[in-house]
Amino acid sequence: MVGSVLLKRMREENDFAHIAPTYFSTSAAGQRTRDHRGREHTLRDAHAIEQLAEMDIIVTCQGGSYTKAIYPALRAAGWNGYWIDAASAKRMDSDSVIALDPVNRVHIDAAIASGVKNFIGGNCSITLSLVGLAGLLQAGLVDWMSMMTYQAASGAGATHVTELLGQMTALSDHTRAALADPATPTIDVLDRARFAAASDDYPITRFGVPLAGSIITWIDSDLGNGISREEWKGEVEANKILGLAPGTIRVDGLCVRVAALQSHSAAITLKLKEDRDVESLEKLIGNGNEWVDFVPNTREESIRRLSPAAVSGSLKVAVGRLRKMNLGDGIYSVLTTGDQLLWGAAEPLRRVLGIILSTT
Ligand code: HSE
Repeated sequence: MVGSVLLKRMREENDFAHIAPTYFSTSAAGQRTRDHRGREHTLRDAHAIEQLAEMDIIVTCQGGSYTKAIYPALRAAGWNGYWIDAASAKRMDSDSVIALDPVNRVHIDAAIASGVKNFIGGNCSITLSLVGLAGLLQAGLVDWMSMMTYQAASGAGATHVTELLGQMTALSDHTRAALADPATPTIDVLDRARFAAASDDYPITRFGVPLAGSIITWIDSDLGNGISREEWKGEVEANKILGLAPGTIRVDGLCVRVAALQSHSAAITLKLKEDRDVESLEKLIGNGNEWVDFVPNTREESIRRLSPAAVSGSLKVAVGRLRKMNLGDGIYSVLTTGDQLLWGAAEPLRRVLGIILSTT
């Protein structure tokens, strides 16, 4: 899915005018494919190290297992090209930069100049929130952040989206007749939905549990210390992206899967190093970069503009619900929401490709 979004964005922005692409596949090597300009290509084998090694730049959205298998073999074969990757496998390595240019362009430029060859996309949740809060973070105002995420099904992968829609369809099928009769008490409709979700043929192969009408309170693996890998990524990646020593900005919270289809949100409690009036913070956030859509903290604006439904399919990162909390000095709430398939995955990759092409 990230690969599809990446290709779509590259077509929209005419990126192919600047490259001569060769397409590789792990599953369909040898097959003919036609690109968006109607040109035919034969898919090459994405495991063929000697063929990959002919490339100046490799862009991959294949996943961590592929990276772990192929990347070391390529370098061992003497390949010295640029490796641009969506997977997390190489993110925290010292020879990699996490590419998120609205936040860390200066680090990307310095890394290219110093010979770094690995540019990796960050975790979707943390990158979206960093794009949204870039103005505050770059001003050095943030002491710590508690991030409570609301992550869409698409963050888990294409088959998970299909499964969530399958669950929604099953709930609809099982409640349609009851809903058609206005005399049916709503509690009976809820009972039917609950029975449907508990039935043996309810689709839960991917998530393992129902998501439609519910939430899943753990994302990614269990690190064994009460923390999920998704939660661990927040702090380590945020500091690395910002070019800070590990733990400089403390980031912690709970990551939760919700039945949104597309776009991740995060309700964030911010501890700033000093008390600031909300108006000055609004300006800092709103002027952070061109993609921030600052949403005034009113009911009407929030429900209309600050939601997955409002931002999905766009590059906007909506930021709102900013207010000083009644919890002590320097403590503020803020909520970010953005399409994680774009800023959280595909967009930083095509942008760092463009930066490499224009600076090398
Ligand atoms: N791990 C994320 C998720 C995907 O499950 O939503 C984006 O990094």
